[in-house]
Amino acid sequence: MVENIRIGVFVCDCGSNIAGVVNVPDVVDYARGLDHVVLADEGRWSCSVDYLSKMQDLIKEHQINRVVVASCTPRTHEPLFKRTVKEAGVNPYLLEFVSIREQVSWVHMQEPEIATEKAKDLVKMGVAKAALLEEGQEIRLPVKTDCLIIGGGMAGMSAALNVADQGFNAVLVEKEPQLGGIMNQLCFISHDHYKSPAAILVESKAAQVHAHPNVTVYTDTHLETVEGYIGNYRVTLKPNGDGSSGNIDVSTVVVATGMQELEPEGQFLYGDDPRVVTQLQLDRMLRDKAVQDVKSVVIINCVNSKNETRGCCSIGCHTSVKNAIALKTLHKNASVQILYRDLSMVKEEGDALEKAKKIGIKFLRFPDDRYPVVATENKNLIVQVFDLLIGKEFKLPADLVVLTTAFKGDETVEHIKGLLKVSSNADGFFQESHVKLGPLEFPADGISLCGCAKAPMTFKESCEAGTGAAMKVSIPMKRGYVEAEGIVADIDLANCNQCSICWKRCPYSAIKVDAEKNPEVIKALCKGCGLCAADCPKECISIVHYSDEQVMAQVEAALEDDPDRKIIGFVCHWCALGGVDMAGVSRLQYPSNARLIRVMCSARVSIKMMQHAFDLGAAGVLVAGCEFPTCHYITGNYAAEKRIKRTKSKLAKAGYDPERLWNIWCSAADGPKFAGTMREMVKELNLK
Ligand code: FES
Repeated sequence: MVENIRIGVFVCDCGSNIAGVVNVPDVVDYARGLDHVVLADEGRWSCSVDYLSKMQDLIKEHQINRVVVASCTPRTHEPLFKRTVKEAGVNPYLLEFVSIREQVSWVHMQEPEIATEKAKDLVKMGVAKAALLEEGQEIRLPVKTDCLIIGGGMAGMSAALNVADQGFNAVLVEKEPQLGGIMNQLCFISHDHYKSPAAILVESKAAQVHAHPNVTVYTDTHLETVEGYIGNYRVTLKPNGDGSSGNIDVSTVVVATGMQELEPEGQFLYGDDPRVVTQLQLDRMLRDKAVQDVKSVVIINCVNSKNETRGCCSIGCHTSVKNAIALKTLHKNASVQILYRDLSMVKEEGDALEKAKKIGIKFLRFPDDRYPVVATENKNLIVQVFDLLIGKEFKLPADLVVLTTAFKGDETVEHIKGLLKVSSNADGFFQESHVKLGPLEFPADGISLCGCAKAPMTFKESCEAGTGAAMKVSIPMKRGYVEAEGIVADIDLANCNQCSICWKRCPYSAIKVDAEKNPEVIKALCKGCGLCAADCPKECISIVHYSDEQVMAQVEAALEDDPDRKIIGFVCHWCALGGVDMAGVSRLQYPSNARLIRVMCSARVSIKMMQHAFDLGAAGVLVAGCEFPTCHYITGNYAAEKRIKRTKSKLAKAGYDPERLWNIWCSAADGPKFAGTMREMVKELNLK
């Protein structure tokens, strides 16, 4: 039976936010004339309770079975409208959201007529897609109450205790023979050191963990395999050495694998002279009382951090001051000097700084581009440093040089990231789902992240992060289920040539193949990034809500009139659309040529989509995704980048100028970058 498509279009004034620039009645009239539209209405404040209820009445009264809402950004308001249409009896996957505030009225404030025309185009594109939408549904998965915590440092132990205190079962796996992680190498955790011996803190926390009836501890053990997904992980544990493997079933996972020092290579005489040590080595010396005869100590901060390749290690200043105080307290007459570039101390650490100065520790600032040099003169260690504040070079004698080095993720990161299908960053730490929006999560449901597995943290921060990560995984365990978005891949085997590309490229291992190499999507694992669909040579994979036909329909609608002055922009829902929205919120004004099409990830944009836009006469095409390595689908932007390169050579062969295909990788805060790219594109492409 062919369904009678009845589309309702609801255009919002957003007070004067939209209506102050866009001629909304004109857009509403225009919408009434589009195919399948049976109703178009203007709402003063569409997200108000009154209007939402009016919208529901109109949907029922006009038997609307597809809805287009033209208002603000889907990143904030889509869930509300999805709920609204669902309550009115329309499957929420039959809603299409069009952003005419962030993408139109806020960024073309001085050009009301042009803004109105662009709003009409965006509505037309929304209607074209809505006509092709199909119903979808969330996938509900049961979640039990067993949580695996990988890593028994402070963050892991805090997470395990928190999970266990809530009545859930925590399985804590530590690769070393004892709990404690990097804390086992420290002497004190803060400048008031006699109050904070690391060994006592570890002992007391480990005792709580071992005594808790809901915590099972496996030390000297590593993870061999992990299979499954939230609610259904099967994990094989293997004791180090000769012990035999065993399986456990858990529903959620907390990653707390910690970090390691990045030892300098061939710098500052490290490795050549035993009197040059790292902060962790000094900590061990302090713990073992092996610093008895020290008379002059020079500490050099920012070794291999805060440079072109690595950011601030964030705990180096704190560590250098803490250990300097410990040394000075032990040897009151010793000279202790900290050579620094910049001191970043938070409030409590500010007290430490005051104390350090009071007890005679000297601070000397050196320039960013002129690091101290460690040398020997007559077998004595000498540190040569330029004092930035006095403008003079000094030679400091030292019987101990301590390097405050950078850190990198634990050595197990590579192995575990492969098992869990999560990503790491250039510094070897695990990469959270989003720096601001998902700091304790991975893109995969049911796995959270904490402590120094993510970045260097202080003792306090690690414990807090451990508790936070535990709370994150406790939410689905408490609820008993999780609902996954119904935006997933669907494979039509009729055309499949069993090439296995989809299976090989899926970042989540959400596609399995049988003996005949027929692929099948495990819906519970699929995140709907669309990478498989874009790369499928037989075009037999469809993504719910982002099918080829739906995206192509938007391209065609956008380019129906004046294609030669339009830019088709494919933007990922996460950082790229965040950047677009930020440009809007910041009221950055840029040319109105772009017609943006939302996809979940830049990986969804196929060669065919890009070329189709050029075939229809588009002046340019832009693919916008998250900056590296923060794609919300692990490796989607890398796949997109490769595909863009392939597309450029295809375009050249087809007679198009490949320079008309642009791409931009940005963060959700990159409004200026997006607006700037728009201006640049319009200029380079000679558009009006
Ligand atoms: Fe933004 Fe993948 S989600 S590029």
